[in-house]
Amino acid sequence: MKNKNFLLITFFAIFFNSQNLIADEAKMTKGLEIFNEKAACAACHILKAAGSEGNIGPNLDTVSNLTIESVKDIVTNGLGVMPAFGEGGILTEEEIDIVSFYVVNSAGK
Ligand code: HEC
Repeated sequence: MKNKNFLLITFFAIFFNSQNLIADEAKMTKGLEIFNEKAACAACHILKAAGSEGNIGPNLDTVSNLTIESVKDIVTNGLGVMPAFGEGGILTEEEIDIVSFYVVNSAGK
């Protein structure tokens, strides 16, 4: 009986973990697409993982202390020359979440 519970817990732990990995992988794929196409972050930023060479904004591979929250904030509200993607529905909130997740997890790789 005890053993059976253990197996059940192990099964669910593995199952939910793999679901998370699939979700993260999907975010990375979608994030790359937003970065290069829909939002064209690539036009202004270098990000080696995305193959982008824009040089209007800072090189995202070398910026330190990027967090998902800080990227979300800049993408939503803009900064200097950088447009505010949260205004006028250029990107949805979900797309901003996804592209921020993508940038933080690809920078410097
Ligand atoms: C029109 C050019 C342009 C586009 C498009 C653009 N950016 Fe920027 N970005 C800039 C500039 C310029 C800055 C620096 C702003 C400043 O410091 O005044 C910047 C700053 C940033 C920073 C802060 C870097 C730091 O030094 O902390 C991040 C992160 C960033 N951009 C991510 C993105 C993402 C993600 C996208 C796409 C959703 C994007 N940018 C689209 C021009 C752009």
